[in-house]
Amino acid sequence: MSELPWWRGEVVYQIYPKSFCDSNDDGIGDLRGITSKLDYLKRLGVTMLWVCPIYPSPMADNGYDIADYRAIAPEFGTMEDFEQLVAEARQRDIKILLDLVINHTSDEHPWFKGALAHPDGPSHDYYIFKQGTEPPNNWRSVFGGSVWERVAGTDEWYFHSFGKKQPDLNWENPQVRRELFDMVRWWLDKGIAGFRVDAINFIKKDQSWADREPDGADGLAKCTKAVRNQPGMGTFLAELKHEAFEPYGCVTVAEAAGVSYDAFGEFIGEDGYFSMFFDFRHADLDIASGNEWFHRVPWTIGDLNERLMAGQLAIQPHGWGANFIENHDQPRATTKYLGEAQHDPRAVKTLGAMSLFLRGMLFIYQGQELGMVNFERTSIDQFDDLSSLDQYQRSLDEGYSPEEALHLVNLRSRDNARTPFPWTSERYGGFSKVEPWLAMTQEWPVINARSQEDDPKSVLNFYRSAISFRKEGPYARCLVDGDIAPLRSTADVIAYVRSCGDDKLYCWFNLGPEDAYEPLPEEDVKTVWFTDEQPDASDGVLHLRPWQTVLMARS
Ligand code: GLC
Repeated sequence: MSELPWWRGEVVYQIYPKSFCDSNDDGIGDLRGITSKLDYLKRLGVTMLWVCPIYPSPMADNGYDIADYRAIAPEFGTMEDFEQLVAEARQRDIKILLDLVINHTSDEHPWFKGALAHPDGPSHDYYIFKQGTEPPNNWRSVFGGSVWERVAGTDEWYFHSFGKKQPDLNWENPQVRRELFDMVRWWLDKGIAGFRVDAINFIKKDQSWADREPDGADGLAKCTKAVRNQPGMGTFLAELKHEAFEPYGCVTVAEAAGVSYDAFGEFIGEDGYFSMFFDFRHADLDIASGNEWFHRVPWTIGDLNERLMAGQLAIQPHGWGANFIENHDQPRATTKYLGEAQHDPRAVKTLGAMSLFLRGMLFIYQGQELGMVNFERTSIDQFDDLSSLDQYQRSLDEGYSPEEALHLVNLRSRDNARTPFPWTSERYGGFSKVEPWLAMTQEWPVINARSQEDDPKSVLNFYRSAISFRKEGPYARCLVDGDIAPLRSTADVIAYVRSCGDDKLYCWFNLGPEDAYEPLPEEDVKTVWFTDEQPDASDGVLHLRPWQTVLMARS
């Protein structure tokens, strides 16, 4: 790579606007709420915010169903509030990434309304319609049921990869692409740093539209094999890059699950379509497929290690990755990876450190820095997330009992991460003065930002110091620019080495409840950072306590 990209050392914090901070006490977070917390984010060490969709939307999928690409949802504020957020963030050297959702719109977008009202009009071909008395094929949408929805009173069906209120745009139509690229440039002109690009590998569909082998009790076949990572997608992605992103030098992070290791070079790096993309292999290690939560898979820390390292090594020759352990679609990492130890601050810190010191741009999801945990719900009515409702039904259809189905959904529900941010132990966690749109987690009186603020041993203060060590500590160059290689380790320990020239930083993370003994890879190494107590390293062996992180460098 000729020049190192400017964004590689950024620390990104993901905000789910509905649940971050409510400034006007309507129970829904908003832009002014985000602006009011910029000092908190600055102190955490954040340099960039990824703000999930803030555009007008019926909120069937909490904003991933956009009804107007060039405005702000009234519940989140106004365009002035957005501009103020950008300006105040800039004063603190914090950049803004917006969420770009261009595989689909809302069915309430004027283009779609126009398409239904005027079947012969220009916007009809902005979407994918087929004629027939039956659904045109047997593909299952990501959120359940057929990908086809009948237009009421007609023999016409429209296509949706996700929910039925999220019709897919027809990327085959050059006018659609022109409209979208123009809109992207319009936002970049407002001074944002770039985009997280939603579900972007869905834009090309298998044009045969042929039925596939059914794979579920509903008789349907998952659509992802026919609408994700399809041949020909690269032509659209290259055009998006050249027409919209490249002229601005903006940073782009693609959500592109299922990209094969061989294709990483096409996606990222100097000639890639995007700056980075999210690899989900480690995040989805507990399920057989992202859309089938009932197909649970047993896993070990060794498997987690293997998936993380395989991803890191596949990315390294091409560019930088986008490292994360949580986001708005995943359960809390504490509950998922730590199980019974989810409340043990030692375990939570080591899990965080393991992700913080990987090679790549760092993403932290709101509340991760407090060690938030999943919210165990007792009835399906308590869920808002449309995929949770679908997965509950599918689990029942596949033969699970209602109790089992609820348990499966609790483990994976996207609502786990969407609960309002607990700022204080006051009523409604200081998030709002009125009842929030989604219930707070049970833990908010204990797990909240204020209670962790002054406790030097809190998870929050751990994140602050670990981020600062990564960004500004004596090994910052190694941690940001250095290469990564796995180190051999015992069963519950993830270990890797970061190296930059002759500097080497050996990193061990004990993600188990037992002591571990790891061979030192060189004689002359010293401990430079650790959690818990000062570790012993003697006679060529490092003794790691349960849930301990230790970093050693060449002396
Ligand atoms: C992405 C988003 C998710 C959304 C889906 C449809 O996967 O992260 O929240 O539901 O796309 O837009």
